[in-house]
Amino acid sequence: MSDRPAILVTGGAGFIGAHVCKALAAAGYRPVVYDNLSTGHAANVRWGPSVFADVRDRATLSDTILRHDIAAVLHFAASAYVGESVKDPLKYHDNNIGGMIGLLDACRQTGLRRVVLSSSCATYGHAGPGPIVESTPQVPINPYGFTKLACERMLLDHVAAHGMQPAILRYFNATGADPAGELGEAHSPETHLIPLALLAASRRGPPLAVFGTDYDTPDGSCIRDYIHVDDLARAHVLALGHLMQGGGPLTLNLGSGRGVSVLQVLDAIARVTRRVVPFRTQPRRAGDPATLVADPRLAAARLGFVPRFQDIDTIIAHAAPWFGHEVRHAATA
Ligand code: UFG
Repeated sequence: MSDRPAILVTGGAGFIGAHVCKALAAAGYRPVVYDNLSTGHAANVRWGPSVFADVRDRATLSDTILRHDIAAVLHFAASAYVGESVKDPLKYHDNNIGGMIGLLDACRQTGLRRVVLSSSCATYGHAGPGPIVESTPQVPINPYGFTKLACERMLLDHVAAHGMQPAILRYFNATGADPAGELGEAHSPETHLIPLALLAASRRGPPLAVFGTDYDTPDGSCIRDYIHVDDLARAHVLALGHLMQGGGPLTLNLGSGRGVSVLQVLDAIARVTRRVVPFRTQPRRAGDPATLVADPRLAAARLGFVPRFQDIDTIIAHAAPWFGHEVRHAATA
């Protein structure tokens, strides 16, 4: 067995999980992927061993923790489509809350205490136009956000009962791709704005449906805080290092603090690829708040985390080759 600390990465075959595994390996850890491959890809598992099983399978999960002498778990495995969660809430209750029950039970059975939970700005709901701080009331407006809030609360209950070490990381909109080009975004079905808009621009997909241009925002389209997946991965390594050194509980937003509207994303894609994104305006998508922008200062203070790729053109330039584009204008980095 390696002397590098073994880190269990549930959902490690998925978009964010795979980028995190790469960052963990580079930081001297041994990522052990645990993934049921419902949305992840076996080809993404390249930085350590894997177990292809479901987090709700508590016996296999406990066995994996013991067999690999796991020092901490990073829990990504979950269903993560806001729109789907509105249409099929039970899937989210079952997979996300059921998965958290499986994880917490396995932690209790095996004595594993360090847990980094993948949470979401979707737990805040309609937080208003200003930057969202971690103490902003969490009032989710879609089942996905509700399940992530439930997972946070469940973890904190177990912290109180069993003395665990938690890090709750609330991501804003994860996007981009590995700057070295080894990993990219490949969801099936794809529902996220930047991949769909890049596919529309390269004519590999239909014209983009812009969900709502009647929001109370400067251009009427929704505003989000897009965080580069490589920065997100680095933040996880920092949070893990904090826990490994005996650091106290963390609850942090992971965002850039910059709001970008849907129409501004389309403009950025046109700048970066020199291709116009064909689009048509559609009604609002159920479950979408007008604005979600992080106040990123607490993550900077607690972990020294500041995103390296803040500029939307750069983020898009890294994602674009995965969707058939040559990057004509590589922005600032
Ligand atoms: N959008 C469109 N057309 C599309 C897809 C998206 O206009 O075809 C809009 C959405 O309405 C939203 C914005 O683009 O305003 C971003 O939508 P995404 O689907 O890319 O991302 P979401 O904001 O819905 O969801 C993502 C993650 C969640 C996370 C959430 C937090 O998928 O896991 O960010 O906001 F919780």
